[in-house]
Amino acid sequence: MNAINAIIRPLTDTDAEIYHELRLRALKEHPAAFAQPYESQAATTLDEVAIRLLETSESPHDFILGMFLGEALIGMVGFRRGRGDRLQHKGTIWGMYVAAEVQGQGLGRILIREAISRASDIFGLEQIDLGVISGNDQARNLYISLGFESYGLEKRAIVVDGNYHDDELMQLFLGRRGGAHRT
Ligand SMILES: CC(C)(COP(=O)(O)OP(=O)(O)OC[C@H]1O[C@@H](n2cnc3c(N)ncnc32)[C@H](O)[C@@H]1OP(=O)(O)O)[C@@H](O)C(=O)NCCC(=O)NCCS
Repeated sequence: MNAINAIIRPLTDTDAEIYHELRLRALKEHPAAFAQPYESQAATTLDEVAIRLLETSESPHDFILGMFLGEALIGMVGFRRGRGDRLQHKGTIWGMYVAAEVQGQGLGRILIREAISRASDIFGLEQIDLGVISGNDQARNLYISLGFESYGLEKRAIVVDGNYHDDELMQLFLGRRGGAHRT
């Protein structure tokens, strides 16, 4: 079973090439699942990718997790915490992807659970939000099964090749985590 052998760790600048390659695959295979167009990622240089990964890995509250089977990067998910006193109680999960050849084997669930667990360890982090494009039942079912609740629908949120797609907005409440920023 693949899941037993999977290793998850935060990605950093030395992972730029494999991250860029997998991110390009994700955007090419599922153009409607992500806000970023393939072309914009393709136009990003490896140096720029490395800088972004380094900055993220050095940030105390953001991360991009990679899932590996052996040497191969086969999954990724990003987390970004809100900035400033009024937004730091929440964070966003973005860029969730598992390589097509290993989808449906439980790896995505393990990967996002790890992201939620790491986010839950951040002091003062109380809730996680994400968006899922309408019709992406694979991802939606996964998020619902983990406790994410739907709170709205942004109509015509993205345009892909002239077609509009709605974005379902979802939240997971982690409970009060200390709330030191609250008055
Ligand atoms: C969404 C995604 C990350 C899920 O990863 P995965 O490894 O295939 O998922 P898992 O095998 O861990 O399955 C987890 C749950 O997802 C849901 N799911 C998985 N495949 C499904 C399918 N074909 N149809 C419906 N639901 C499905 C189920 O709820 C499943 O739980 P279950 O097996 O207990 O029923 C993966 O399919 C993917 O990368 N999709 C393309 C990119 C994408 O849509 N990213 C999300 C953007 S918001």
